[in-house]
Amino acid sequence: MCGIAGYIGPRQAAPVLLEALKKLEYRGYDSAGIALIEDGHIQVRKARGRLQHLMDITSGGMETPGHVGIGHTRWATHGEPSDRNSHPHLSNDERFAVVHNGIIENFRQLKEMLISRGYHFHSDTDSEVISNLMQEYDQGSLVETLAAAAVHLEGSYALGVLSLDEPGAIAALRKDSPLIIGRGEGENYLVSDIPAIISHTRDVYLLEDGEIALMTDSEVSFFDAYGAPIGKKVFHVDWDVSAAEKGGFEHFMMKEIMEQPQALQETIRPRIKDGRIDLSELGLEGGWLKALHTIHIVACGSAYHAGRLGKNLIEMSARIPVTVEIASEFRYSDPILQPDHLVILVSQSGETADSIAALREAKRQGVKTLAIVNVLGSTIAREADHVLYTWAGPEIAVATTKAYTAQVAALVLFSGYIAQERGSAYAPRLNILAEALLKLPEVARQVLDDHSRVQYLASLFFNHRDIYFIGRGIDYSLSLEGSLKLKEISYIHSEAQPAGELKHGTISLIQPGTLVIALATQKKLRDKMLSNIQEVRARGAVVLSIAARGDKEIAAVSDHFIGIPPLSDELEPILAVMPLQLFAYYVAALNGNDVDKPRNLAKSVTVE
Ligand code: M6R
Repeated sequence: MCGIAGYIGPRQAAPVLLEALKKLEYRGYDSAGIALIEDGHIQVRKARGRLQHLMDITSGGMETPGHVGIGHTRWATHGEPSDRNSHPHLSNDERFAVVHNGIIENFRQLKEMLISRGYHFHSDTDSEVISNLMQEYDQGSLVETLAAAAVHLEGSYALGVLSLDEPGAIAALRKDSPLIIGRGEGENYLVSDIPAIISHTRDVYLLEDGEIALMTDSEVSFFDAYGAPIGKKVFHVDWDVSAAEKGGFEHFMMKEIMEQPQALQETIRPRIKDGRIDLSELGLEGGWLKALHTIHIVACGSAYHAGRLGKNLIEMSARIPVTVEIASEFRYSDPILQPDHLVILVSQSGETADSIAALREAKRQGVKTLAIVNVLGSTIAREADHVLYTWAGPEIAVATTKAYTAQVAALVLFSGYIAQERGSAYAPRLNILAEALLKLPEVARQVLDDHSRVQYLASLFFNHRDIYFIGRGIDYSLSLEGSLKLKEISYIHSEAQPAGELKHGTISLIQPGTLVIALATQKKLRDKMLSNIQEVRARGAVVLSIAARGDKEIAAVSDHFIGIPPLSDELEPILAVMPLQLFAYYVAALNGNDVDKPRNLAKSVTVE
């Protein structure tokens, strides 16, 4: 969601900025722009539409001179996607240029105040107030001016700022929206996400809320919100550059689907020692775990779906009550939390605005928090009391795949760990679970090897208008994910229903030819699913079932069947989601959609 880039150094800045913005495209955007300092003025080039358009009109940046610049890809929140609403925004006197990620909640009041003082506005954005606040509260020093302007801002913001009075510097400030500074040799970078600079430097500074950075080509200095100098440690990124490239696949999404065996391996293997699940890395004390009364899992989108599976697993193995809530609801629900509760935040990016707010609400109430996060050093990872990393590696496609399965694997590990530590009745099954977990990456590989069968099935259904998913228990949680995956990239209407609930309303939508994808991976519920499949077939539905390989009865009542290799009840859902991801992918690709960057969506939702 919006991308920020900045460069200062010996090279021509515009091509560097465009290259960085290109690598941020996956975040989602609808317009792009750059601003460069050259010959005593700030030159701005910006355009609605794809970044390629901006590249075309600037000859890849070559027509825009200057060695100091900022750039932006905008995902519209205030004001339609248009040239004039694109960033960067200049102050009225054209001495300041600003790029902004986030939302300025009090922009209307600020705009009115600035208009009353004679300012003019050239866009409908909330962001334009910032450049004018810089002009209004100019202190003669870029850092002090930024600090003075920020005092007036309410909301979330990551800012990159140029000033004509300090043409050899870029200033940056963050609050509730990520911002990273890359340290190079005689050059420095500003970005909103690490993949944008990993090919230039692995040494980065992660800005914290309220911190200001001032970069020149040779150094980076840091200040608190009042402009007082502070120290900051360099963070070394150790993942491989190829992880952020397509590596021969047509889309990142397919590459990431195929990377799941490795993501599972990395997430699981270090945590199984001598046949036992070892999460001592969490530092959760045994006595506290034994007294744990309730768990609240809070997340958004697919991470919420992973959380639902987490509830199924934790309640089954550790017998602790679990609630699962959507972060945007949780944060405003005045949640009832007690000292013997645990709040688990699940997030790939660790930067989702609602999940951050939910985490802060839990901390405000003094409750212990655990983050299941993929991005190292992200806000949620830094602020939670305990962190369980998923080691899925960088995920670029907007539709999450490998990060989701790694989240589910982390929740399986966690459920087993607390069952073990509490000595629950399930504990004797744990070494079987640990063994199955170790086999999971290999079995996942076998499931993915069968991708051409899913491709064939997608070719039968890619032009359907409505597709329904049904399942019970864990399979219902899985259905929600299958349905979301399909919606987000194929734009086909889809719903997931608990299979037993269908006849209470939604079954009226089933007509001859409607595709119903039925999940029946759990032994204890498969007979019920058998009946539900027959119910929808009796109304003319075409049924594609996903169940244990060799389940002849389910296969016999279905039009199409995908068999999942046997592993264990706890882990088959992780395997069963893979055909669903492949199905969504192939359907979207057959429809000619931009699979990695679906319309209206952003990878990391950093605004409310
Ligand atoms: O980064 P997060 O895991 O916190 O993101 C949560 C959701 O925005 C995310 O899972 C979203 O639903 C994905 N696009 C789904 O594919």
